[in-house]
Amino acid sequence: MSAPDTIMSSMVETREFPPPGGFAAQAHIGSVAEYERMYKRSIEDPEAFWAEVAENFHWFRKFDKVLDWRCPNAQWFVGGKTNVAYNCLDLQIERGRGNHTAILWEGEPGDTTTLTYSELRTEVCKFANALKKLGVKKGDVVTIYMPMVPELTVAMLACARIGAPHSIIFGGFSATAIADRVHDANSKIIITADGGWRRGKIVPLKDNVDAAVEQGTSVETVVVLKRCENEIKWTGGRDHWWHDLVEGEADACEPEQCDAEDLLFILYTSGTTGKPKGIMHTTAGYMVYTAYTAKMIFDLKPDDVYWCTADIGWITGHSYITYGPLQNGVTVLMYEGAPNQPDWGRFWEIVQKHKATIFYTAPTAIRALARQGDEIPAKYDLSSLRLLGSVGEPINPEAWMWYYEKIGRKNCPIVDTWWQTETGGILISPLPGAFTLKPGSATKPFFGIDAAVMDSAGVVQPDNAGGLLVIRKPWPAMLRGIYGDMERYQKQYWSQIDGKYFTSDACRRDEDGNFWLMGRVDDVINISGHRIGTAEVESALVSHPAVAEAAVVGIPHEIKGQALAAFVALQVGRAAGDDLKKELLKHVGTQIGAIARPDQLRFTDALPKTRSGKIMRRLLKELASTGEVKGDTTTLEDFNVIASLRDDD
Ligand code: WT7
Repeated sequence: MSAPDTIMSSMVETREFPPPGGFAAQAHIGSVAEYERMYKRSIEDPEAFWAEVAENFHWFRKFDKVLDWRCPNAQWFVGGKTNVAYNCLDLQIERGRGNHTAILWEGEPGDTTTLTYSELRTEVCKFANALKKLGVKKGDVVTIYMPMVPELTVAMLACARIGAPHSIIFGGFSATAIADRVHDANSKIIITADGGWRRGKIVPLKDNVDAAVEQGTSVETVVVLKRCENEIKWTGGRDHWWHDLVEGEADACEPEQCDAEDLLFILYTSGTTGKPKGIMHTTAGYMVYTAYTAKMIFDLKPDDVYWCTADIGWITGHSYITYGPLQNGVTVLMYEGAPNQPDWGRFWEIVQKHKATIFYTAPTAIRALARQGDEIPAKYDLSSLRLLGSVGEPINPEAWMWYYEKIGRKNCPIVDTWWQTETGGILISPLPGAFTLKPGSATKPFFGIDAAVMDSAGVVQPDNAGGLLVIRKPWPAMLRGIYGDMERYQKQYWSQIDGKYFTSDACRRDEDGNFWLMGRVDDVINISGHRIGTAEVESALVSHPAVAEAAVVGIPHEIKGQALAAFVALQVGRAAGDDLKKELLKHVGTQIGAIARPDQLRFTDALPKTRSGKIMRRLLKELASTGEVKGDTTTLEDFNVIASLRDDD
């Protein structure tokens, strides 16, 4: 029997990948020794470390003190006054980047737009002036519900420029989800578009906003961007066209001198209780941390064409499409649509066409792309790429290898970046010019991040014994609270292990100090007293050549306490059958051990996912234990998936 809080881990990954030739020499951080020296200093004297980093930003008033920490309340860069939009635009222009492309955008139908840093500033200022005319003041929460178009970036930066916090709602959410969030934030204005393109169809964004506002919200003003020219309803007095508002507006707008701790944005994330939590991020700490992590982890250089495939509606898009990269003056590539429109080569075609140098996506996308076969990426010239990134879930070693070989062509390091909506920026990740990579490990904590693996009593676990991932010190981009519920903030994040930040993730740290994420604590299954992370069993399944994607959940078991149920999607062209089922179960047995062999295994065409691409294990658990799904499916992307899983029974 293992000790109460330890989590068994039996998959040992031995493959190692040092930085490919030449990468280290040109990188911002080119050796482990340099990382270690800087990391040591950042932990021993975080205030001096961050004060030095903060030198490279524009301040209207310099801060008096780097950190004021009274758990759970942190203030960073106390007394400082700055403006994040100014740092993204004006500072870049002052540094000579005015004529450099800031946004290189491609719509799903293939239309493109580019905006230089100067042009982007003009658009931002015009729209900021328009917002002011509509009565938006510093501190007013502005809701944004838009497709992935350049105007989305313009809208966020305009809010930041005038000190109005934005609350962005992902364009895939429904009217009720909008109404809940608008209500919670007491927001009086929504910025939207007539529609957005997704898989060749128009998403009726304005219709959804109309339906949300009808649910008795606080909204008085709706701004509508014309994107798809689809027919929409119009409410006079409340609705305004974007193009009418900006016409004739001045192309300069004085940036608001924001306090370091002024609210920059709220971003809602789903909580375990169902009610979405409004995660609050403030100005200066978030600004400094996202810019600095983007520079070091993506090794950003002036000529990079950086592409993150996330939607701006998620934290990844906030931190690493908008605020982080723009503060580094690079070209940000943005794409509106789906990865399989018109076919599964679209991402690679975009990389080839725009000569992307950095590509950042999620394991779920990597597995979906890999499933289509190697011939597709092989058709494209991907030689512009120099660095790849992954975020959102543990990346299975096999998916990592596919990404490394078939996309990076063994020339690109992969940064497996671990972080959360709450952390604001990346906390655990390789530095690509310094670290030797191990497929499946997010490697080591970033500067200033004091990460540890503990049991629930707060005792640090020995090497390789799994436990809970906690962060022992505050960091600049950490959340400052849950909007309207500071008690829940304290309880959920700072009380489970007293005075330390509780991530809810299971993790193990190996003898070299590398961190291996094992999924959410809720996804750890106890079989006959052995705690097993489902992520590991999934990786074992995915390492079989026939398997494209797998989800493993725990179900009640009379004898063992819990047992495992697996759902498996096969590579395109592979047929399901009893022989394959037996072979897969045996494969898990040899990869991990008999204890991890699932009791149930079903084949499926697709797995139920949230709109951000996370597998909905909760639904699978319900299905595996009861044979049906009654629970909340509001965040499920494709209901047909659940329907077909049921039919297969
Ligand atoms: C949760 C946070 C942060 C941007 C996207 C998701 C999981 C995220 C990794 C990774 C293993 C990861 C964790 C985390 N996660 N990145 N590289 N390796 N797990 O943001 O929706 O707030 O989800 O995603 O479980 O806690 P989010």
